[in-house]
Amino acid sequence: MSDQEQQRAQRAVRQFMQSWQRSGLTHIKHIEPAPVVSAPVEVVPPAVPESKTSLRIRPVEPETPPERTPVSPPEPAVEHVVEPVVETADPRKDMSVPRTTKSRLSKADRQAQLDIVAGEVSQCRQCPELAETRTQTVFGVGNPSAKIMFIGEAPGADEDKQGEPFVGRAGKLLDKIIEACQMKRSEIYIANILRCRPPGNRNPSDTEAANCRGFLDAQIEIVDPDYIVCWGSVAAKNLLHSELPIGKMRGQFYEYGRARVVCTYHPSYLLRNPSAKKNVWDDMIFLFEDMGVDLKATQN
Ligand code: URA
Repeated sequence: MSDQEQQRAQRAVRQFMQSWQRSGLTHIKHIEPAPVVSAPVEVVPPAVPESKTSLRIRPVEPETPPERTPVSPPEPAVEHVVEPVVETADPRKDMSVPRTTKSRLSKADRQAQLDIVAGEVSQCRQCPELAETRTQTVFGVGNPSAKIMFIGEAPGADEDKQGEPFVGRAGKLLDKIIEACQMKRSEIYIANILRCRPPGNRNPSDTEAANCRGFLDAQIEIVDPDYIVCWGSVAAKNLLHSELPIGKMRGQFYEYGRARVVCTYHPSYLLRNPSAKKNVWDDMIFLFEDMGVDLKATQN
């Protein structure tokens, strides 16, 4: 990336953050990069009234409904609140519309753009309490071209110390889940709703999540994953603007931009409630089945 391109990308990230701050949740438009790589992320401020935003966040039916183990107690049929609700009365009715393909950026260029955003994050002081108490910011880690992106809640003490998401006890369990899915941690991109540790590991406030949202969306925009896994209710609630408990969000796909989103229990919850591991495994089977991978065949 030339200096000039880097400056353009930095400017784009700044504009991105400012436009989000000014207008709340609206949309990010993909600009297809020219065949020659090195195009910076270009973020376009909302061009439509908020009620007509083009960002889609909605539940979608899997192409082949997988068999699912009933969650105990049995849960009522699909019911959710997702904003902004757009365009169609039945959000599931155009599942036949093919999803667009991944943006054509090289892995190196995605990494370069992530590095620029990470630089912005490291300087961020939008949440005074977090900026005051953090050891460092925890941006995200993994494959900048990942097909799957994981989103957790916020760094804990270990992450704050090491500067990487999911490196503590919950992270070790997450690693085991990744391994059970026949993947490597380095193949996935991992981020959180927040990039700073909330003191005492309290839940992120709505303001903190909103302050950090532009960074998360920049990461999603750059990595442009096919799938996102929201680990736990904080991730699911914030990404999808849903008030439903996590147990009720499981078992179906949502859309966030181009990505299909699955919501499941947080690894920390699994450490306290090991019996829920079965549910998470079901969710991984559900996700991987959509990708054409039969995880059940890997079980013995
Ligand atoms: N829990 C999270 O949600 N994220 C981390 O990075 C670590 C623990």
